[in-house]
Amino acid sequence: MIKHLMSPLDFSVEELDRLLDLAGDIERNPAKYAHICDGKKLATLFFEPSTRTRLSFEAAMLNLGGSVLGFHSGDSSSTKKGESVGDTMRVISCYADIAAIRHPKEGAPLVASMRSLIPVINAGDGGHQHPTQTLTDLLTIRSLKGRFNGLTIGLCGDLKFGRTVHSLIDALSRYHDVRFVLISPEELQVPGYVKESMKAKNIPFEEVVRLDETTMKDLDILYMTRVQKERFFNEEDYIRMKDFYILDKAKMEVAPDKMLVLHPLPRVNEISVEVDDDPRAAYFKQAQYGVYVRMALIITLLGLEVA
Ligand code: NCD
Repeated sequence: MIKHLMSPLDFSVEELDRLLDLAGDIERNPAKYAHICDGKKLATLFFEPSTRTRLSFEAAMLNLGGSVLGFHSGDSSSTKKGESVGDTMRVISCYADIAAIRHPKEGAPLVASMRSLIPVINAGDGGHQHPTQTLTDLLTIRSLKGRFNGLTIGLCGDLKFGRTVHSLIDALSRYHDVRFVLISPEELQVPGYVKESMKAKNIPFEEVVRLDETTMKDLDILYMTRVQKERFFNEEDYIRMKDFYILDKAKMEVAPDKMLVLHPLPRVNEISVEVDDDPRAAYFKQAQYGVYVRMALIITLLGLEVA
């Protein structure tokens, strides 16, 4: 059976552990993996803008000795002529060995995977899920904190449309004694289905509006997010919300010493550049981990073994 990745829950906790172990080995011994994908091709089908996800996928495949092909806007593909995502995927199955697809419509990568003859990776579907960002986040947390159990995670910003948040909550909810502090304006709270799923699993969470000393006092991780401009229905709401949170030096001064700051990037104004030099700021390291984990993912989905 072909294995796809649509949501982080497609992997069991044990499979995830193995994948993160593999990513760790890749980080330490890159040369061992430099030819494992010789002759293999990755297709990147990006119907929405991307910098990190697409380029880190491409870097990952090139690091493994493979090659890449693809497009980075729906306008330059046959979608413009009316082709369905299922047909596009079926055809690309004839040209590549594995594909990563990003699409503005929730569920489009799933539809594509149903017609595909090769493994399909959801590289972000609308405001729904972004499982490979979650793998990146998990590798970052595991590498820098050494564990998932017992963590208190603050998620701040656009929790309604931020797909990285939805995937991360799903993934972390499987570990013991994890708590969430959800920090957002009322209009941008996590969707009802995400809350229901946390309640069903008895995951403790609280919703707060302010990002201040009290909110941050127990956090092991503060995961900042951008207000998702492209998913707003009107410009006025976006303008009202866009600078709701700004993590600056003054806020970092009252934050716990242990509190790591993560962000999937791109950032707009929600983290001041002056925070970049703070030892707790881990978002650029996080981007680097994204390459190792995508290398591990490609190897895993292709079922390859190091010789
Ligand atoms: C995120 C996304 O595309 O959802 N970006 C990324 O892949 N690192 C976050 C965002 O765009 O805000």
